[in-house]
Amino acid sequence: MQSSFQLDNKRSVTICAGLSGTGKSTFTLRYLVNADLAIRFCFDPDGEFAKRLDLEPAHDAYELGLALCNGWVIFDPHTLFAGRVTDGFAFFCDWAFTVSERVPGRKCLVVDEVWKYCTPAAIPAELALVTQTGRKRGLALLVNTQRPTKLNGSILNEVSEFVCFRLQENNALEKAGEYGFDLDELKSLPDLQFVARNLDSGGELRGRIKV
Ligand SMILES: Nc1ncnc2c1ncn2[C@@H]1O[C@H](COP(=O)(O)OP(=O)(O)O)[C@@H](O)[C@H]1O
Ligand SMILES: [Mg+2]
Repeated sequence: MQSSFQLDNKRSVTICAGLSGTGKSTFTLRYLVNADLAIRFCFDPDGEFAKRLDLEPAHDAYELGLALCNGWVIFDPHTLFAGRVTDGFAFFCDWAFTVSERVPGRKCLVVDEVWKYCTPAAIPAELALVTQTGRKRGLALLVNTQRPTKLNGSILNEVSEFVCFRLQENNALEKAGEYGFDLDELKSLPDLQFVARNLDSGGELRGRIKV
């Protein structure tokens, strides 16, 4: 097996936070389409990404292999893991991590609404591995959440880019405040408008996405 231990890859863990409907998934779709990525891995139990991208999801090992060749892997766990979405999630994180060793270039694993799969107290080992070690294989992580307070410390400690859409709840705002955001600004952001902070460079970016 070819080894592509990619030591020069910087850590790349992005958190995208915001209330429901503010633009997190749209931002993620835009990123996946526009970024220079060899492979996009999307865990898609609700079928939202397959539908919005108009792509066929992969249901089994054969379809995962085919999707890998196309650079777009949208995984629907309900065939291989009927009634066991969290097992499907662990499998997909592990699979993305494993195949990333063989594929040169930048890859990204996307987890929409990540609070469904981890809590501050517990994170699947397979997701923790991608978070902490993915960069050695060129595998970035992008997680979306309505609830930044529910993120596990493994993700919060590794975050390199924090993208915030509107937040409302005090605890959520306080969590964002720990990363240098202006809380009054976050509270009043219109839908689809975001502030992004790069925690390595300290750079800040404001933008608006179109649907
Ligand atoms: N399939 C879609 N096609 C076009 N617009 C959509 C679609 N789904 C959601 N939207 C719109 O995009 C905006 C942001 O939604 P979305 O990015 O899904 O928010 P979030 O992921 O933060 O809940 C909303 O105004 C929503 O109505
Ligand atoms: Mg969404």
